Amino acid sequence: MCGIVGYIGDGDTVNILLESLRKLEYRGYDSAGMAIIDDKGKARIFKNEGEISELEAIVPEISSHVGIGHTRWATHGRPTTQNAHPHCSGNICVVHNGIIENYQELKSELISEGFVFISDTDTEVLAHLINKYYSDDLGLAVGTALGHVRGSYAIGVLSNEHPDELIAARKDSPLIIGLGKDENFIASDIPAILKYTNRIIYIDNLELISVKQGSVRVFDMEGNPVEKEEHIIEWDLEAAEKAGYPHFMLKEIHEQTRSIHETMTGRLHELEGDVNFGELGLDRNEIRQFQRIEIIACGTSYNAGLLGKYLFEGLAGIHTDVDTGSEFRYSSPVLAPSTLVIAITQSGETADTLAAVREAASYGCRTLAITNVVGSTISRDASHTIYTRAGPEIGVAATKSFTSQLVMLYLLAIHFARARSMMDADRARMLLSELRKIPGHVSRILEDAGTIHECASMFVKAKDYFFIGRNINYPVALEGALKLKEISYIHAEGYAAGELKHGPLALISKDVPVVAIAPQGHTYDKILSNIKEVTARDASVIAIVDCDDYCEIEKFADFVIPIPKTDEMLTPLLSSVVIQLLAYYTALELKCSIDKPRNLAKSVTVE
Ligand code: G6P
Repeated sequence: MCGIVGYIGDGDTVNILLESLRKLEYRGYDSAGMAIIDDKGKARIFKNEGEISELEAIVPEISSHVGIGHTRWATHGRPTTQNAHPHCSGNICVVHNGIIENYQELKSELISEGFVFISDTDTEVLAHLINKYYSDDLGLAVGTALGHVRGSYAIGVLSNEHPDELIAARKDSPLIIGLGKDENFIASDIPAILKYTNRIIYIDNLELISVKQGSVRVFDMEGNPVEKEEHIIEWDLEAAEKAGYPHFMLKEIHEQTRSIHETMTGRLHELEGDVNFGELGLDRNEIRQFQRIEIIACGTSYNAGLLGKYLFEGLAGIHTDVDTGSEFRYSSPVLAPSTLVIAITQSGETADTLAAVREAASYGCRTLAITNVVGSTISRDASHTIYTRAGPEIGVAATKSFTSQLVMLYLLAIHFARARSMMDADRARMLLSELRKIPGHVSRILEDAGTIHECASMFVKAKDYFFIGRNINYPVALEGALKLKEISYIHAEGYAAGELKHGPLALISKDVPVVAIAPQGHTYDKILSNIKEVTARDASVIAIVDCDDYCEIEKFADFVIPIPKTDEMLTPLLSSVVIQLLAYYTALELKCSIDKPRNLAKSVTVE
């Protein structure tokens, strides 16, 4: 996904921009570029398709005090050097995240006025438009140009006629300002500039910023000054780096002992048999009045949402539907103010989820965001927000953010069940105390990761995989298949085990490993039958089971991976760690690009 950085100050501008761009690599990109004003007042543009190291190779040593940089993830036009940002017109250079929706009509207009386009991007329209409206005030020209565009943007703009100023603006695409001593930064994401400063200003929609070496001034689009609050970011840079693991993904899988604990910290109230949810902003009465829950999410967060359905229905007795953001936003949802809409999004920036939430809000529904990123767009759009506190997640494939989302859904479902008198205090106490033991159980799975590595190696030649589960294990099966395809590129499908006989059984053969998520529970006997169905067709079975069932299941399965004993409802928290490790080690054996899988991005801020 695209990333923006900008710097103004006495530092080594080129290296600061390169270093900041590197910190955004985790978002996924296909080309990179920068524009700087050199000390002779000349704008110098460098861009290259491919990695930041390739950009670095073409940037000479230049002394400069101001510059903007960009990592591009193609949306309009191929990932070529020509299409890489910055885009320039006259003296104006622009980097842009987002999509200008009316760029075609603006482009035709600009062409008829004599502007010449050299790229296929929507962004180039912005550069020409700002140039068109420029007389001597860069901020004014940017504001006027933005008045003509529809769509989303976070932009950084500079001109060699204004070597002492950077202009930035935002609508529906994240942007922050970093405050330094005699230097300032712009960025689309905090890790980009955390090495240089932890003093941040969050920019809101339709704000325009003039950044100078010694000042930051924020305006609305009418030019009125806006007061902004400074935030201190407590993450240390160390937390955003690999800390000795070969991949961010493995580090993040291991961090789950801590992240799951963090999600629960201060929220478990075992004495009362309830959850402390002060930040939720919903009292018991309000919770009782909800007649339905609609969960909206994308990707891994959607799989978490599916488990949420079983929890809200099974524990709290509230009818719950789950939809992906991209489907929901163009459906004809039947929503009433008595529907609670829960949006689950790690980044808080997924465009489809954000759009769906806005759609839901237009029906008068309360919207509750479950997100990992403080200050993200969803936290400002939703009427209520709770944070998963999983810490920054860099690997494109979500791992610790997923288990923290699950924990959050358990806590919410228990809280709702208590408020609606669907669960007595004893059952709640028991679940909460079992939840408290989960980080310890996860540690034991991680200690035995070698077994999962062995399993992954055994089946590494497979071209197709199936993951099956029933009831609360079905979302884990879906997530298992998603993880495997994301990072190992092996075709994998997640199926409700009872559905095998309605089609996929035709694909089962000796070359297809089937991962059965089969811990003890009320559907255990059923999935045992499903395991027998596939072994009868010569498939190899990898069974994820309770440690107590090891011996029994060994008779039917080719590989058994035990998980520690916990309450049936909570087993997805443990089996999820197993499927993550299975995907990780498979991708490792296949020498795939684990943290940055091909064609995928961490944060999908376009539709
Ligand atoms: C991308 C990421 C996935 C993530 C999905 C939703 O596709 O690669 O890992 O699950 O976006 O992201 P969100 O930030 O909304 O949870």
